[in-house]
Amino acid sequence: MGRNFFVGGNWKCNGITEEVKKIVNVLNAAADVPPKEKLEVVISPPFVFLPHVKSSLRQDFSLAAQNAWVRKGGAFTGEISAEMLVDLGIPWVILGHSERRLLLKESNEFVAEKVAYALSQGLKVIVCIGETLEQRESGQALIVVAEQLKAISGKVSDWGNIVLAYEPVWAIGTGKVATPAQAQEVHADLRKWLKSHINPKVAETVRIIYGGSVTSANCIELAGQPDVDGFLVGGASLKPEFIDILKASL
Ligand code: G3P
Repeated sequence: MGRNFFVGGNWKCNGITEEVKKIVNVLNAAADVPPKEKLEVVISPPFVFLPHVKSSLRQDFSLAAQNAWVRKGGAFTGEISAEMLVDLGIPWVILGHSERRLLLKESNEFVAEKVAYALSQGLKVIVCIGETLEQRESGQALIVVAEQLKAISGKVSDWGNIVLAYEPVWAIGTGKVATPAQAQEVHADLRKWLKSHINPKVAETVRIIYGGSVTSANCIELAGQPDVDGFLVGGASLKPEFIDILKASL
């Protein structure tokens, strides 16, 4: 397979300085973490903590912002530009998270434009896709995620700078983790889509990671699925069990 495992820690809108310091201390103290050739770890704190975490986090872990504006900075109050992230030395950005698609009405097209601009500025992108409970229960899951993937695929020239995160909306923050079979079915279908619409090499090399109620209790079985290349972890990334999740691929 040849894809190194990838685990992102999405802290979402959580943390105050003292809590951030404690989390960074836990991450820095983690022993026996596989080398980057086997495991890529990307931590995503809120924007305001990126400089502090960058200056204090161990060097074998990388950083992601949780969003970036869709074009060059300017009169866009409250937004953070890709240029700012590059200037700060933040290599990754999470885009298309379902919380932004649903709460802030970010459409497939808008997410695709964000992906294009972030890539154009030299950022690497974790692109989130996933269906709602209603879409799954109506048998639309594979159709929905294929549409989301299709929307961004036209904007990507170098798939080496993309990680796909399948995050079923009904599993995010609910404790209702997808079964390994459910995750594998969607990941395999996404890889098949890439093979037929992009090319076999991209399909084989792009990391497709799972997000949605991943914990130390369920990560090993999920990691055992052939097309699950890692995780995007929310709540558990704020806890010491995140270190166990990092080792799930061992
Ligand atoms: O981006 C990851 C996040 O959406 C998953 O959240 O808390 O279900 O692990 P959680």
